[in-house]
Amino acid sequence: MNRVTELIDELFEKKNLSKEDFIFLINHRSEEAAQYLFEKAGIRRRENFGNGIYIRGIVEFSSYCRCDCFYCGLRRSNQHCERYRLSREDILQCCRSGYEYGFRTFVLQSGEDLTYSDDDICDIVRQIKQEMPDCAVTLSIGEKSFESYQKYYDAGADRYLLRHETASPELYKRLHPSGQTLENRIRCLYDLKKIGYQVGAGMMIQAPYQTAEDLAEDFVFLKQLEPDMIGVGPFIPHRDTPFRDFSAGSLELTLFVLGILRCMFPKVLLPSTTALGTIDPAGREKGVLAGGNVIMPNLSPQRVRGKYLLYNNKLTSSDDARGSVENLRNRMETIGCEVVISRGDAPGKGPH
Ligand code: 5AD
Repeated sequence: MNRVTELIDELFEKKNLSKEDFIFLINHRSEEAAQYLFEKAGIRRRENFGNGIYIRGIVEFSSYCRCDCFYCGLRRSNQHCERYRLSREDILQCCRSGYEYGFRTFVLQSGEDLTYSDDDICDIVRQIKQEMPDCAVTLSIGEKSFESYQKYYDAGADRYLLRHETASPELYKRLHPSGQTLENRIRCLYDLKKIGYQVGAGMMIQAPYQTAEDLAEDFVFLKQLEPDMIGVGPFIPHRDTPFRDFSAGSLELTLFVLGILRCMFPKVLLPSTTALGTIDPAGREKGVLAGGNVIMPNLSPQRVRGKYLLYNNKLTSSDDARGSVENLRNRMETIGCEVVISRGDAPGKGPH
């Protein structure tokens, strides 16, 4: 047995790998190693989730952003981005129709738009939970103070997604302007955990300048944080950003990372992301076969979908949401999986 398979076995047995081990694994991976990894990851996924796939409906409620991340199409400096905001009623309407299609988790996502006050956010969360008490609400609205996070939680928010983007301070600096720090990002993640949220971190694969060392650092960081969810997708360039000329991350490495994560964190909620579906027509199925167990279709109104572009060629189903859920059910069936109607909490966690 070679060293790579040995390391995969160690991961599968929940042994802690060192940063050097992760670097070795990434640098010496092969097609055969990937097949072996995905088998192991599949075992862990089925042990914890059977053949069930959780779905979450994303409502992208504002494309305004005060941040200026070099990779993101919504960055403040992008003059070509068409900005929009959804009203409370628009957002509720998206959730109501999502409920009919079988969604029991709504992810409210936006750029960092300070036009919505904490009270506005709390109001929206409260209203959704009041109308649909059997649903979970996930927020993905960026870096806030402990007090703000606490308010949203008290209003009923269950989960929070905030990708750490990279655990390497040097790389973080190359991806963000100087006002945005890794330190604050990590402070946010620990605040969210402390408050009691189910917390999601994550990173892009093959973002500009990212090395195997950087990815290894992400694994070591994630092991410390122990998040409930990990969002991972390939970097995809956006034409109106400073990173327009970099190439997209590969399907192959993204899948390999998903496999590693499933073995490291058997119970983690691991989305097969839209970005993965964007770089390969069967990307999301492949993501599930590599260890993913969550799919997050878009519930935003048709008229704004083309305006929430983190990267180019983003998958935007032209179907209505109902059609796309049906389509998803069928696609998951072809790989032996079943979309389930459930909040899909992290194992051992639930409503608060
Ligand atoms: N390519 C891939 N993912 C991106 N994100 C932002 N811009 C891009 C891009 N160009 C991801 C970031 C962010 C999440 C909402 O989308 O990781 O946290």
